[in-house]
Amino acid sequence: MSLHAKRSPAADWQARVGTLSRVGGALVPPSVVHVAEEIRRLLQAGQELFDMTIGDLSPRCFPTPPALVRAVAEAVIALESSYPPPDGMPELRWQIARLFRTRSGLTVGPEDVQVGAGARPFLFAGYVLLVDPGEHVVFSRPSFFNVEYTQLVGGVPVALETSPENGFFPSIDQLRAVLPGARLVVLASPGNPSGTIMPARDLEELARLVVSENQRRLAAATSNEEPRLLYLIFDQVYSGNVHGQVPAHNPAQLVPEVSPWLLTIDAASKAWSVTGYRCGWCVAPRELRPALSGLLTLMGAWAPRAEQIGLAHFLADDGLIMEATLKMHAGLSRRLRGLADGVARLRAQGLPIHCLEPEGGIYLALRIDLPRFDDEEIRRALLEQGGLAVLPFSAFGGAPAHRGWYRVSVGNLREEDVPRVIDRLRAVLEALLR
Ligand SMILES: Cc1ncc(COP(=O)(O)O)c(C=O)c1O
Repeated sequence: MSLHAKRSPAADWQARVGTLSRVGGALVPPSVVHVAEEIRRLLQAGQELFDMTIGDLSPRCFPTPPALVRAVAEAVIALESSYPPPDGMPELRWQIARLFRTRSGLTVGPEDVQVGAGARPFLFAGYVLLVDPGEHVVFSRPSFFNVEYTQLVGGVPVALETSPENGFFPSIDQLRAVLPGARLVVLASPGNPSGTIMPARDLEELARLVVSENQRRLAAATSNEEPRLLYLIFDQVYSGNVHGQVPAHNPAQLVPEVSPWLLTIDAASKAWSVTGYRCGWCVAPRELRPALSGLLTLMGAWAPRAEQIGLAHFLADDGLIMEATLKMHAGLSRRLRGLADGVARLRAQGLPIHCLEPEGGIYLALRIDLPRFDDEEIRRALLEQGGLAVLPFSAFGGAPAHRGWYRVSVGNLREEDVPRVIDRLRAVLEALLR
């Protein structure tokens, strides 16, 4: 075995840092990479385990709608193989605007829509296009890759520590305290890793704060100075998967005046089990669109042409959208409900476990209350004794106060395995309590 193979990927990376730029050197592989490697090793060694770490949808568990697969295949066969237009295929932008209008009631046209390779390029682009080094970026802790994106642009992270009582969203008081100094707020609802939805009253208040803060900055600006306004990136990639009674709103539905400073990011990825198709979009203020399109062009982060054409065909049929969305929704809800009910039964039996009510997306926020063990010890016990692979909130920038919280993804879980997951949870907890 070579010396390299003995080093962890992080150590390997660190060893090369001297040769990289500031940005490159800061991009240490996230801890989840090591967990994924560990899971791969165990699976290769023949261990039967439930991998509930991945923020993905297995088509084995959540089949991609056949009509969408056919439409993409037909576009591939029709040799739709060249570059797409930098803004996205016109027919897809048209359908996305229609979908957005239908779901939100907002006035959105194709000219407001930029298509890209999934949701991530728009998170990246939002940070790069809006944030200068030293500017403050506000986000919740834990959340999805905001620490990394902030680091990438040299921004100052203002990570608001959240609590289970608030569904792991920041409170309005927390937001009010930091927005006056901020350039950007980034929020995903339904959330990752929480699986919860920001209450409408809080989202509305946040949107109002953005508007009033910008009015204040505009009023304070002198005639020869461009004010640095405050932008809101709202990531709604899980908004197609709402499970309970809590509705998922877009901020502009609640406060239309926020639109000039709002970038809404969405994607087909989680909505219809096509994370690998790399089709996402951003509804952005028009003056930002040329820069968005330009950055995506430089990165080549366009959505593939055939996938765009296939998706446009699919989205043209309301019946297909409805059928596919209901199917996804039913499959996710049954699994999340089954897990939440099972966890409640374990709790009723006196075991130190509970979870948040799943509200949206593909995750369950699970709490294991065993102060004798740290997160890593519990994670390993779940994996090695129970064959249950989950991620601690610390993998998403969780704070020390979030100790004991884990993200459980149902994207790769078969429905018939839910009772087995609960049985294994019981067995591991009983063993740890002995
Ligand atoms: C909150 C959030 N936003 C964006 C993404 C990325 O979506 P995409 O695969 O479309 O880039 C994820 C994926 O896990 C996510 O959890």
